[in-house]
Amino acid sequence: MKKFYITTAIPYANDRPHIGHALDFLYADILARYHRKQVNTLVSFSIGTDEHGSKIAEKAAIDHLSPQAFVDKMAPLWQDFAKKLNVSNDRFVRTTEKGHEQRAALIWKALEKDIYKGKYVGWYCVGCEEYKTETHVADTNGTCPLHNRPYDKLEEENYFFKLSSYTEKLINIIETQSLRVVPTSKRHEIMNVLKDGLEDLSISRPKEKITWGISVPGDESQVMYVWFEALMNYITVIGYPEHEDFKKLWPADVQVVGKDILRFHAAIWPAMLLGLGLPTQKNLLVHGFVTSGGKKMSKTLGNVIDPITIIDTYGVDAFRYFFTRHIPSTDDGDFTPERFEASYNGELANELGNAVQRVASMIKQYQDGVIGDIPEASHDQGQYHQAFIDYTFDKAMEFIWTQVRGLNQYIDTEKPWILAKEPDGGDHLREVLAYCVSNILEIADLLEPFMPDTSAKINILFKDGLVHPTTGSLFPRHEAK
Ligand code: MSP
Repeated sequence: MKKFYITTAIPYANDRPHIGHALDFLYADILARYHRKQVNTLVSFSIGTDEHGSKIAEKAAIDHLSPQAFVDKMAPLWQDFAKKLNVSNDRFVRTTEKGHEQRAALIWKALEKDIYKGKYVGWYCVGCEEYKTETHVADTNGTCPLHNRPYDKLEEENYFFKLSSYTEKLINIIETQSLRVVPTSKRHEIMNVLKDGLEDLSISRPKEKITWGISVPGDESQVMYVWFEALMNYITVIGYPEHEDFKKLWPADVQVVGKDILRFHAAIWPAMLLGLGLPTQKNLLVHGFVTSGGKKMSKTLGNVIDPITIIDTYGVDAFRYFFTRHIPSTDDGDFTPERFEASYNGELANELGNAVQRVASMIKQYQDGVIGDIPEASHDQGQYHQAFIDYTFDKAMEFIWTQVRGLNQYIDTEKPWILAKEPDGGDHLREVLAYCVSNILEIADLLEPFMPDTSAKINILFKDGLVHPTTGSLFPRHEAK
Protein backbone atom coordinates (compact mmCIF):
# COMPACT_ATOMS: atom_id res chain seq x y z
CA MET A 1 0.00 0.00 0.00
CA LYS A 2 1.35 3.42 -0.98
CA LYS A 3 0.56 6.51 1.05
CA PHE A 4 0.04 10.11 0.09
CA TYR A 5 -0.01 12.75 2.82
CA ILE A 6 -0.86 16.28 1.78
CA THR A 7 -1.26 19.51 3.73
CA THR A 8 -2.05 23.17 3.18
CA ALA A 9 -0.90 26.25 5.03
CA ILE A 10 -3.27 26.86 7.91
CA PRO A 11 -4.87 30.30 7.50
CA TYR A 12 -5.05 32.76 10.37
CA ALA A 13 -8.44 32.69 12.00
CA ASN A 14 -8.44 36.48 12.35
CA ASP A 15 -10.56 37.20 9.31
CA ARG A 16 -12.99 35.58 6.90
CA PRO A 17 -11.75 33.80 3.75
CA HIS A 18 -11.25 35.63 0.46
CA ILE A 19 -10.68 34.09 -2.98
CA GLY A 20 -6.89 33.98 -2.52
CA HIS A 21 -7.32 31.59 0.39
CA ALA A 22 -9.08 29.15 -1.89
CA LEU A 23 -5.91 28.28 -3.80
CA ASP A 24 -4.19 26.25 -1.09
CA PHE A 25 -7.34 24.27 -0.42
CA LEU A 26 -8.16 23.78 -4.06
CA TYR A 27 -4.75 22.65 -5.29
CA ALA A 28 -4.32 20.27 -2.38
CA ASP A 29 -7.82 18.91 -2.93
CA ILE A 30 -7.14 18.28 -6.61
CA LEU A 31 -4.00 16.35 -5.72
CA ALA A 32 -5.75 14.41 -2.96
CA ARG A 33 -8.60 13.41 -5.25
CA TYR A 34 -6.21 12.47 -8.05
CA HIS A 35 -4.17 10.23 -5.76
CA ARG A 36 -7.29 8.61 -4.29
CA LYS A 37 -8.03 7.39 -7.80
CA GLN A 38 -4.71 5.55 -7.99
CA VAL A 39 -4.76 1.93 -6.96
CA ASN A 40 -3.53 0.94 -3.53
CA THR A 41 -2.98 4.44 -2.23
CA LEU A 42 -3.88 5.62 1.23
CA VAL A 43 -4.49 9.36 1.04
CA SER A 44 -4.57 11.64 4.03
CA PHE A 45 -5.26 15.33 3.62
CA SER A 46 -5.00 17.91 6.36
CA ILE A 47 -6.03 21.55 6.61
CA GLY A 48 -6.72 23.75 9.64
CA THR A 49 -6.63 27.16 11.28
CA ASP A 50 -3.78 29.11 12.85
CA GLU A 51 -5.25 30.53 16.05
CA HIS A 52 -2.52 32.03 18.25
CA GLY A 53 -0.40 35.18 18.07
CA SER A 54 -0.71 38.95 18.34
CA LYS A 55 -2.79 39.35 15.23
CA ILE A 56 -5.56 37.16 16.62
CA ALA A 57 -5.32 38.73 20.08
CA GLU A 58 -5.63 42.23 18.59
CA LYS A 59 -8.67 41.34 16.52
CA ALA A 60 -10.34 39.61 19.48
CA ALA A 61 -9.86 42.76 21.57
CA ILE A 62 -11.52 44.87 18.87
CA ASP A 63 -14.49 42.47 18.93
CA HIS A 64 -14.54 42.60 22.78
CA LEU A 65 -14.04 38.86 22.98
CA SER A 66 -11.45 36.71 24.68
CA PRO A 67 -9.04 35.30 22.08
CA GLN A 68 -10.44 31.81 22.69
CA ALA A 69 -14.06 32.94 22.22
CA PHE A 70 -12.99 34.82 19.12
CA VAL A 71 -11.28 31.85 17.45
CA ASP A 72 -14.16 29.59 18.45
CA LYS A 73 -16.37 31.94 16.47
CA MET A 74 -13.99 32.14 13.49
CA ALA A 75 -12.86 28.52 13.03
CA PRO A 76 -16.30 27.34 11.82
CA LEU A 77 -16.20 29.95 9.04
CA TRP A 78 -13.11 28.25 7.69
CA GLN A 79 -14.52 24.78 8.15
CA ASP A 80 -17.65 25.85 6.28
CA PHE A 81 -15.54 27.46 3.58
CA ALA A 82 -13.69 24.20 2.99
CA LYS A 83 -17.01 22.32 2.76
CA LYS A 84 -18.44 24.90 0.41
CA LEU A 85 -15.38 24.44 -1.85
CA ASN A 86 -15.96 20.68 -1.72
CA VAL A 87 -12.55 20.10 -0.16
CA SER A 88 -12.06 16.43 0.71
CA ASN A 89 -9.79 16.83 3.74
CA ASP A 90 -9.99 14.06 6.31
CA ARG A 91 -8.25 16.10 9.02
CA PHE A 92 -8.70 19.62 10.32
CA VAL A 93 -6.35 20.96 12.95
CA ARG A 94 -7.00 23.97 15.17
CA THR A 95 -3.84 25.14 16.88
CA THR A 96 -5.78 25.85 20.08
CA GLU A 97 -6.74 22.18 20.42
CA LYS A 98 -5.27 20.43 23.44
CA GLY A 99 -3.76 17.73 21.22
CA HIS A 100 -1.82 20.28 19.20
CA GLU A 101 -0.71 22.18 22.31
CA GLN A 102 0.55 19.07 24.08
CA ARG A 103 2.37 17.75 21.07
CA ALA A 104 3.86 21.18 20.36
CA ALA A 105 5.39 21.08 23.85
CA LEU A 106 6.88 17.66 23.06
CA ILE A 107 8.37 19.01 19.86
CA TRP A 108 9.86 21.97 21.70
CA LYS A 109 11.49 19.60 24.19
CA ALA A 110 12.81 17.36 21.44
CA LEU A 111 14.43 20.42 19.86
CA GLU A 112 15.98 21.71 23.09
CA LYS A 113 19.50 20.82 22.01
CA ASP A 114 19.09 23.52 19.34
CA ILE A 115 17.43 26.09 21.59
CA TYR A 116 19.17 28.74 23.71
CA LYS A 117 18.13 31.91 25.52
CA GLY A 118 19.21 35.26 24.13
CA LYS A 119 18.22 38.84 23.65
CA TYR A 120 16.24 39.92 20.59
CA VAL A 121 16.69 43.51 19.58
CA GLY A 122 14.98 44.28 16.32
CA TRP A 123 11.73 44.66 14.46
CA TYR A 124 8.48 42.75 14.20
CA CYS A 125 5.44 43.06 11.94
CA VAL A 126 2.26 41.87 13.64
CA GLY A 127 0.48 41.67 10.25
CA CYS A 128 3.09 39.24 8.93
CA GLU A 129 3.75 37.79 12.42
CA GLU A 130 7.37 38.00 11.35
CA TYR A 131 10.68 39.41 12.61
CA LYS A 132 12.10 41.90 10.12
CA THR A 133 15.73 42.79 9.42
CA GLU A 134 17.18 46.31 9.68
CA THR A 135 17.69 46.36 5.91
CA HIS A 136 14.08 45.42 5.24
CA VAL A 137 12.81 48.05 7.67
CA ALA A 138 15.02 50.70 6.08
CA ASP A 139 14.01 49.65 2.54
CA THR A 140 10.32 49.98 3.42
CA ASN A 141 10.68 53.23 5.40
CA GLY A 142 9.60 51.67 8.68
CA THR A 143 6.12 50.65 7.50
CA CYS A 144 5.10 47.21 6.29
CA PRO A 145 3.86 47.65 2.72
CA LEU A 146 1.68 44.55 3.00
CA HIS A 147 -0.15 45.63 6.12
CA ASN A 148 0.32 49.35 6.02
CA ARG A 149 1.42 49.55 9.64
CA PRO A 150 4.68 50.55 11.29
CA TYR A 151 6.94 47.77 12.55
CA ASP A 152 7.16 47.23 16.32
CA LYS A 153 10.57 47.71 17.85
CA LEU A 154 11.28 44.78 20.17
CA GLU A 155 13.91 44.47 22.84
CA GLU A 156 13.32 41.36 24.87
CA GLU A 157 14.66 38.10 26.25
CA ASN A 158 13.62 35.27 23.99
CA TYR A 159 14.49 31.71 23.17
CA PHE A 160 16.33 31.19 19.91
CA PHE A 161 16.48 28.25 17.53
CA LYS A 162 19.87 27.51 15.96
CA LEU A 163 18.58 27.93 12.43
CA SER A 164 21.99 29.09 11.19
CA SER A 165 23.53 25.70 11.89
CA TYR A 166 21.20 24.09 9.34
CA THR A 167 22.06 26.30 6.38
CA GLU A 168 24.43 23.86 4.64
CA LYS A 169 22.15 20.88 5.15
CA LEU A 170 19.19 22.79 3.75
CA ILE A 171 21.17 23.83 0.69
CA ASN A 172 22.05 20.22 0.11
CA ILE A 173 18.53 18.91 0.58
CA ILE A 174 17.03 21.46 -1.80
CA GLU A 175 19.81 21.22 -4.38
CA THR A 176 19.50 17.43 -4.57
CA GLN A 177 15.71 17.80 -4.62
CA SER A 178 15.31 15.52 -1.67
CA LEU A 179 13.01 18.42 -0.88
CA ARG A 180 11.66 19.48 -4.28
CA VAL A 181 10.54 23.09 -4.36
CA VAL A 182 8.15 23.80 -7.24
CA PRO A 183 8.30 25.96 -9.36
CA THR A 184 12.01 26.27 -10.16
CA SER A 185 11.88 30.06 -9.76
CA LYS A 186 10.92 29.55 -6.10
CA ARG A 187 13.68 26.97 -5.66
CA HIS A 188 16.14 29.57 -6.91
CA GLU A 189 14.64 32.19 -4.64
CA ILE A 190 15.09 30.10 -1.53
CA MET A 191 18.55 28.95 -2.60
CA ASN A 192 19.59 32.61 -2.77
CA VAL A 193 18.29 33.18 0.75
CA LEU A 194 20.15 30.10 1.97
CA LYS A 195 23.37 31.04 0.22
CA ASP A 196 23.33 34.37 2.04
CA GLY A 197 23.25 32.34 5.25
CA LEU A 198 20.46 32.04 7.83
CA GLU A 199 20.37 33.75 11.20
CA ASP A 200 19.17 32.06 14.36
CA LEU A 201 15.46 32.56 14.88
CA SER A 202 13.70 34.02 17.90
CA ILE A 203 11.05 31.42 18.76
CA SER A 204 9.33 32.85 21.82
CA ARG A 205 7.83 36.05 23.17
CA PRO A 206 7.59 37.22 26.79
CA LYS A 207 4.13 36.81 28.30
CA GLU A 208 4.22 40.37 29.54
CA LYS A 209 4.02 41.41 25.85
CA ILE A 210 1.73 38.70 24.53
CA THR A 211 -0.10 36.02 26.45
CA TRP A 212 -2.02 34.39 23.60
CA GLY A 213 0.13 31.42 22.72
CA ILE A 214 1.39 28.07 23.93
CA SER A 215 3.59 28.28 27.02
CA VAL A 216 7.22 27.36 26.60
CA PRO A 217 7.75 24.08 28.45
CA GLY A 218 9.60 24.77 31.70
CA ASP A 219 9.29 28.57 31.43
CA GLU A 220 5.87 29.98 32.23
CA SER A 221 7.05 33.50 31.47
CA GLN A 222 7.26 32.86 27.72
CA VAL A 223 4.98 31.72 24.93
CA MET A 224 6.09 30.09 21.69
CA TYR A 225 6.41 32.31 18.62
CA VAL A 226 3.25 31.71 16.61
CA TRP A 227 4.97 30.60 13.40
CA PHE A 228 7.28 28.17 15.17
CA GLU A 229 4.28 26.54 16.78
CA ALA A 230 1.96 26.71 13.76
CA LEU A 231 4.43 24.89 11.50
CA MET A 232 4.31 22.00 13.93
CA ASN A 233 0.67 21.40 12.99
CA TYR A 234 1.78 19.28 10.05
CA ILE A 235 2.97 16.59 12.41
CA THR A 236 0.88 17.21 15.52
CA VAL A 237 -2.27 16.56 13.47
CA ILE A 238 -1.12 13.05 12.59
CA GLY A 239 0.00 12.29 16.13
CA TYR A 240 3.71 13.06 16.45
CA PRO A 241 5.59 11.29 17.97
CA GLU A 242 3.88 8.01 18.86
CA HIS A 243 0.73 7.58 16.80
CA GLU A 244 0.53 4.93 14.08
CA ASP A 245 -0.73 7.57 11.62
CA PHE A 246 2.37 9.65 12.13
CA LYS A 247 4.61 6.64 11.57
CA LYS A 248 2.66 5.68 8.48
CA LEU A 249 2.20 9.12 6.91
CA TRP A 250 5.27 11.26 7.57
CA PRO A 251 7.05 12.64 5.50
CA ALA A 252 4.37 14.67 3.76
CA ASP A 253 4.30 13.98 0.05
CA VAL A 254 3.24 17.51 -0.85
CA GLN A 255 2.77 20.68 1.15
CA VAL A 256 0.90 23.48 -0.58
CA VAL A 257 1.62 27.10 0.37
CA GLY A 258 1.51 30.60 -1.12
CA LYS A 259 4.63 32.44 -2.25
CA ASP A 260 4.65 34.85 0.73
CA ILE A 261 5.47 32.04 3.14
CA LEU A 262 8.18 30.28 1.16
CA ARG A 263 10.94 30.95 3.70
CA PHE A 264 8.91 29.44 6.54
CA HIS A 265 8.28 26.26 4.61
CA ALA A 266 11.53 25.82 2.69
CA ALA A 267 13.95 26.90 5.43
CA ILE A 268 12.52 27.11 8.96
CA TRP A 269 10.20 24.10 8.84
CA PRO A 270 12.67 21.70 7.19
CA ALA A 271 15.33 22.83 9.68
CA MET A 272 12.97 22.01 12.54
CA LEU A 273 12.37 18.60 11.02
CA LEU A 274 16.09 17.98 10.68
CA GLY A 275 16.46 19.01 14.32
CA LEU A 276 13.87 16.38 15.23
CA GLY A 277 15.77 13.78 13.23
CA LEU A 278 12.87 13.49 10.77
CA PRO A 279 12.87 13.52 6.99
CA THR A 280 11.71 16.76 5.42
CA GLN A 281 8.55 17.01 3.33
CA LYS A 282 9.13 15.60 -0.17
CA ASN A 283 7.56 18.35 -2.27
CA LEU A 284 6.64 21.94 -1.66
CA LEU A 285 4.23 23.52 -4.10
CA VAL A 286 4.53 27.29 -3.90
CA HIS A 287 1.66 28.97 -5.69
CA GLY A 288 1.30 32.57 -6.76
CA PHE A 289 -1.11 35.24 -5.65
CA VAL A 290 -4.57 36.08 -6.91
CA THR A 291 -5.16 39.74 -7.51
CA SER A 292 -8.54 41.37 -7.94
CA GLY A 293 -8.78 43.63 -10.97
CA GLY A 294 -4.98 43.70 -11.20
CA LYS A 295 -4.50 44.85 -7.59
CA LYS A 296 -3.74 43.19 -4.28
CA MET A 297 -7.03 42.65 -2.46
CA SER A 298 -7.52 45.13 0.33
CA LYS A 299 -10.38 46.45 2.38
CA THR A 300 -9.24 50.00 1.69
CA LEU A 301 -9.48 49.45 -2.06
CA GLY A 302 -12.77 47.62 -1.55
CA ASN A 303 -11.76 44.88 -3.99
CA VAL A 304 -11.81 41.87 -1.66
CA ILE A 305 -13.79 39.11 -3.35
CA ASP A 306 -15.95 36.82 -1.26
CA PRO A 307 -15.69 33.27 -2.61
CA ILE A 308 -19.00 32.24 -1.06
CA THR A 309 -20.96 34.72 -3.20
CA ILE A 310 -19.38 33.36 -6.38
CA ILE A 311 -20.06 29.78 -5.38
CA ASP A 312 -23.68 30.60 -4.50
CA THR A 313 -24.17 32.33 -7.85
CA TYR A 314 -22.37 29.96 -10.23
CA GLY A 315 -21.90 26.71 -8.34
CA VAL A 316 -18.81 25.22 -6.75
CA ASP A 317 -17.48 23.53 -9.87
CA ALA A 318 -17.55 26.77 -11.85
CA PHE A 319 -15.45 28.30 -9.07
CA ARG A 320 -13.06 25.35 -9.04
CA TYR A 321 -12.86 25.49 -12.82
CA PHE A 322 -11.96 29.17 -13.05
CA PHE A 323 -9.29 29.03 -10.38
CA THR A 324 -7.56 26.02 -11.88
CA ARG A 325 -7.87 26.88 -15.54
CA HIS A 326 -7.36 30.62 -15.48
CA ILE A 327 -5.02 31.17 -12.55
CA PRO A 328 -1.71 29.44 -13.33
CA SER A 329 -0.74 27.34 -10.30
CA THR A 330 2.88 28.46 -10.28
CA ASP A 331 2.39 32.13 -11.08
CA ASP A 332 0.16 35.05 -10.16
CA GLY A 333 -3.25 35.44 -11.76
CA ASP A 334 -6.04 37.95 -11.86
CA PHE A 335 -9.72 37.68 -11.04
CA THR A 336 -12.34 39.99 -12.47
CA PRO A 337 -16.08 39.32 -12.49
CA GLU A 338 -15.99 39.78 -16.28
CA ARG A 339 -13.27 37.17 -16.81
CA PHE A 340 -15.14 34.80 -14.56
CA GLU A 341 -18.44 35.24 -16.34
CA ALA A 342 -16.81 34.94 -19.77
CA SER A 343 -15.19 31.67 -18.78
CA TYR A 344 -18.45 30.40 -17.31
CA ASN A 345 -20.60 31.17 -20.32
CA GLY A 346 -17.99 30.61 -23.01
CA GLU A 347 -16.37 27.43 -21.75
CA LEU A 348 -18.58 25.74 -19.21
CA ALA A 349 -22.01 26.51 -20.64
CA ASN A 350 -21.21 26.71 -24.37
CA GLU A 351 -18.52 24.06 -24.64
CA LEU A 352 -18.75 21.40 -21.93
CA GLY A 353 -22.41 21.85 -20.98
CA ASN A 354 -23.46 22.06 -24.57
CA ALA A 355 -21.56 18.95 -25.69
CA VAL A 356 -23.13 16.88 -22.93
CA GLN A 357 -26.60 18.29 -23.54
CA ARG A 358 -26.47 17.76 -27.30
CA VAL A 359 -25.36 14.16 -27.05
CA ALA A 360 -27.87 13.27 -24.34
CA SER A 361 -30.81 14.85 -26.13
CA MET A 362 -29.95 13.27 -29.49
CA ILE A 363 -29.77 9.81 -27.90
CA LYS A 364 -33.15 10.44 -26.29
CA GLN A 365 -34.68 11.77 -29.46
CA TYR A 366 -33.30 9.28 -31.98
CA GLN A 367 -32.74 6.14 -29.90
CA ASP A 368 -35.21 6.38 -27.04
CA GLY A 369 -32.35 6.97 -24.62
CA VAL A 370 -30.50 3.72 -25.44
CA ILE A 371 -26.79 4.24 -26.07
CA GLY A 372 -25.73 0.72 -27.00
CA ASP A 373 -22.13 -0.51 -26.81
CA ILE A 374 -19.81 2.24 -25.65
CA PRO A 375 -16.29 1.89 -27.12
CA GLU A 376 -13.23 2.17 -24.86
CA ALA A 377 -11.70 5.66 -24.86
CA SER A 378 -8.27 5.56 -26.42
CA HIS A 379 -6.63 8.98 -25.98
CA ASP A 380 -3.03 9.22 -24.83
CA GLN A 381 -3.30 10.87 -21.39
CA GLY A 382 0.42 11.39 -20.86
CA GLN A 383 0.21 15.17 -20.80
CA TYR A 384 -2.56 15.10 -18.25
CA HIS A 385 -0.65 12.88 -15.83
CA GLN A 386 2.55 14.87 -16.35
CA ALA A 387 0.67 17.98 -15.23
CA PHE A 388 0.07 16.29 -11.86
CA ILE A 389 3.78 15.65 -11.49
CA ASP A 390 4.57 19.26 -12.39
CA TYR A 391 1.57 20.65 -10.43
CA THR A 392 0.55 22.61 -13.52
CA PHE A 393 -3.17 22.15 -13.12
CA ASP A 394 -4.00 24.71 -15.77
CA LYS A 395 -2.18 22.44 -18.26
CA ALA A 396 -4.23 19.44 -17.20
CA MET A 397 -7.38 21.49 -17.73
CA GLU A 398 -6.09 22.65 -21.09
CA PHE A 399 -5.65 19.00 -22.06
CA ILE A 400 -9.21 18.19 -21.02
CA TRP A 401 -10.52 21.18 -22.91
CA THR A 402 -8.83 20.06 -26.13
CA GLN A 403 -10.97 16.96 -25.82
CA VAL A 404 -14.13 18.95 -25.11
CA ARG A 405 -13.55 21.10 -28.18
CA GLY A 406 -12.62 18.05 -30.25
CA LEU A 407 -15.91 16.46 -29.28
CA ASN A 408 -17.97 19.47 -30.34
CA GLN A 409 -16.11 19.51 -33.63
CA TYR A 410 -16.73 15.82 -34.13
CA ILE A 411 -20.46 16.34 -33.61
CA ASP A 412 -20.46 19.24 -36.06
CA THR A 413 -18.64 17.16 -38.68
CA GLU A 414 -20.66 13.97 -38.29
CA LYS A 415 -23.99 15.81 -38.09
CA PRO A 416 -26.01 13.09 -36.33
CA TRP A 417 -29.24 15.05 -37.08
CA ILE A 418 -28.62 14.41 -40.80
CA LEU A 419 -27.77 10.74 -40.21
CA ALA A 420 -31.04 10.41 -38.31
CA LYS A 421 -32.94 11.34 -41.44
CA GLU A 422 -31.16 8.85 -43.70
CA PRO A 423 -33.12 5.63 -44.14
CA ASP A 424 -30.08 3.38 -43.56
CA GLY A 425 -28.14 5.74 -41.24
CA GLY A 426 -29.15 3.92 -38.02
CA ASP A 427 -26.01 1.86 -37.35
CA HIS A 428 -23.67 4.69 -38.10
CA LEU A 429 -25.74 7.08 -36.02
CA ARG A 430 -25.56 4.68 -33.08
CA GLU A 431 -21.80 4.38 -33.50
CA VAL A 432 -21.32 8.13 -33.68
CA LEU A 433 -23.38 8.80 -30.57
CA ALA A 434 -21.81 5.95 -28.61
CA TYR A 435 -18.39 7.31 -29.53
CA CYS A 436 -19.48 10.73 -28.21
CA VAL A 437 -20.58 9.17 -24.94
CA SER A 438 -17.29 7.35 -24.63
CA ASN A 439 -15.52 10.70 -25.03
CA ILE A 440 -17.75 12.39 -22.51
CA LEU A 441 -17.17 9.65 -19.95
CA GLU A 442 -13.44 9.98 -20.46
CA ILE A 443 -13.73 13.75 -19.94
CA ALA A 444 -15.77 13.14 -16.78
CA ASP A 445 -13.07 10.82 -15.50
CA LEU A 446 -10.32 13.34 -16.17
CA LEU A 447 -12.38 16.11 -14.61
CA GLU A 448 -13.05 14.21 -11.41
CA PRO A 449 -10.22 15.73 -9.32
CA PHE A 450 -11.13 19.23 -10.51
CA MET A 451 -14.91 19.21 -10.75
CA PRO A 452 -16.12 16.22 -8.75
CA ASP A 453 -19.83 17.14 -8.82
CA THR A 454 -19.90 17.66 -12.58
CA SER A 455 -18.04 14.42 -13.11
CA ALA A 456 -20.56 12.55 -10.94
CA LYS A 457 -23.54 14.16 -12.71
CA ILE A 458 -22.19 13.10 -16.12
CA ASN A 459 -21.65 9.56 -14.90
CA ILE A 460 -25.22 9.40 -13.63
CA LEU A 461 -26.59 10.84 -16.86
CA PHE A 462 -25.01 8.10 -18.98
CA LYS A 463 -25.18 5.24 -16.49
CA ASP A 464 -25.62 1.61 -17.66
CA GLY A 465 -25.78 2.37 -21.37
CA LEU A 466 -28.86 4.59 -21.01
CA VAL A 467 -29.50 8.31 -20.93
CA HIS A 468 -31.23 9.18 -17.68
CA PRO A 469 -33.53 12.10 -16.95
CA THR A 470 -31.79 15.13 -15.50
CA THR A 471 -32.92 18.16 -13.62
CA GLY A 472 -31.53 20.62 -16.15
CA SER A 473 -28.33 21.59 -17.89
CA LEU A 474 -24.98 21.29 -16.13
CA PHE A 475 -24.16 24.96 -16.58
CA PRO A 476 -27.18 27.10 -17.37
CA ARG A 477 -26.12 30.25 -19.18
CA HIS A 478 -25.74 33.16 -16.83
CA GLU A 479 -26.91 36.57 -17.93
CA ALA A 480 -25.12 39.52 -16.31
CA LYS A 481 -27.50 41.70 -14.30
N1 MSP B 1 -1.17 31.35 9.18
C1 MSP B 1 -0.18 31.45 8.15
C2 MSP B 1 0.18 30.07 7.63
C3 MSP B 1 0.72 29.14 8.67
S1 MSP B 1 1.13 27.59 7.99
C4 MSP B 1 1.88 26.78 9.25
C5 MSP B 1 -0.71 32.31 6.99
N2 MSP B 1 -2.02 32.48 6.94
S2 MSP B 1 -2.77 33.39 5.83
O1 MSP B 1 -4.16 33.34 6.18
O2 MSP B 1 -2.16 34.66 5.74
O3 MSP B 1 -2.53 32.67 4.47
C6 MSP B 1 -3.00 31.35 4.25
C7 MSP B 1 -2.62 30.90 2.84
O4 MSP B 1 -3.33 31.70 1.88
C8 MSP B 1 -1.13 31.06 2.53
O5 MSP B 1 -0.66 29.98 1.77
C9 MSP B 1 -1.10 32.33 1.71
O6 MSP B 1 -0.01 32.39 0.83
C10 MSP B 1 -2.40 32.19 0.94
N3 MSP B 1 -2.88 33.46 0.42
C11 MSP B 1 -3.28 34.56 1.12
N4 MSP B 1 -3.65 35.53 0.22
C12 MSP B 1 -3.52 35.05 -1.05
C13 MSP B 1 -3.79 35.54 -2.34
N5 MSP B 1 -4.26 36.77 -2.56
N6 MSP B 1 -3.60 34.71 -3.38
C14 MSP B 1 -3.17 33.42 -3.21
N7 MSP B 1 -2.89 32.92 -2.02
C15 MSP B 1 -2.99 33.74 -0.92
O7 MSP B 1 0.10 32.74 6.18
